[in-house]
Amino acid sequence: MKEIAIITGASSGLGRVFVEAVIEKYPQLDEIWLIARHKELLKKFAGKYPTQTFKILPLDLTVEKSFAVFRETLKQEQPLIKLLINDAGIVSSKPFQKISRQRQEMMIKLNAEAPMILCYDALPYMQASSGILNVCSVAGFAPTPNMTTYSATKAFLFDFSKGLYAELKERGIHVLALCPGNMKTGMFQTNGDLPKEHSVVDILPFLDLRKITHDSLEKLEAGQMVFTPGVIYKLYRVIAKLIPHKFLMHFSKV
Ligand SMILES: NC(=O)c1ccc[n+]([C@@H]2O[C@H](COP(=O)([O-])OP(=O)(O)OC[C@H]3O[C@@H](n4cnc5c(N)ncnc54)[C@H](OP(=O)(O)O)[C@@H]3O)[C@@H](O)[C@H]2O)c1
Repeated sequence: MKEIAIITGASSGLGRVFVEAVIEKYPQLDEIWLIARHKELLKKFAGKYPTQTFKILPLDLTVEKSFAVFRETLKQEQPLIKLLINDAGIVSSKPFQKISRQRQEMMIKLNAEAPMILCYDALPYMQASSGILNVCSVAGFAPTPNMTTYSATKAFLFDFSKGLYAELKERGIHVLALCPGNMKTGMFQTNGDLPKEHSVVDILPFLDLRKITHDSLEKLEAGQMVFTPGVIYKLYRVIAKLIPHKFLMHFSKV
């Protein structure tokens, strides 16, 4: 039986760095499945690792039929899934009514529904010591005005991951909610919606992608439930638990 890892959002940013970290940490894997919409980007990236076997799945995870393709591929291949990394995500940061309804729906589908469906479909192919790593965000710790729908999707994924952690513990399947703060990725650079000045986003530090991917895989393997890299972001997680959100939102607004 083939042992595989599945990584969504593998065509750019954190997802690509996760692919590199998985290749380094799990050289015994038979195959890594790469999921994102841009087939050419995935193929070009995969070409950098000629000794590694990949399966390229160019899927739009906001579209129902993509999940049918995913399920059918699993059914045909019958792999053992060692690792599922739900990384794909999109953001829009503007006042709620300035973001189109279609974009809001896409955020909900990609950031919240898709990881839930992929976990559901992947679980029958997992066993003890398999792991699920869901990329959440510090934006999920408390509502983030002007990123309202995005932060709500990440709050869903954060709670979903913790619930699943508890449910799967007995089966020995690990679940980690990775909650990063600022990262210099495609999302950050192309999100023209981000406020240009006087934003809380400007004063927060950028995280080291290589370090957080490697640390996350370690923490997943060790059975940790939540990982928030960086002291400032850890502090925010504590503050978001202690301070009523009505007051906190004066500061969390972007
Ligand atoms: N950057 C930050 O500051 C930050 C902070 C906290 C959390 N995060 C989270 O980190 C994760 C990775 O984001 P990133 O920063 O690395 O951004 P990124 O560079 O923009 O990567 C996003 C990835 O998602 C994929 N994607 C977008 N729409 C998709 C769709 N409809 N179907 C399938 N895949 C899709 C993209 O590939 P295609 O375009 O090829 O489909 C790309 O590979 C996200 O979940 C994000 O919310 C980011």
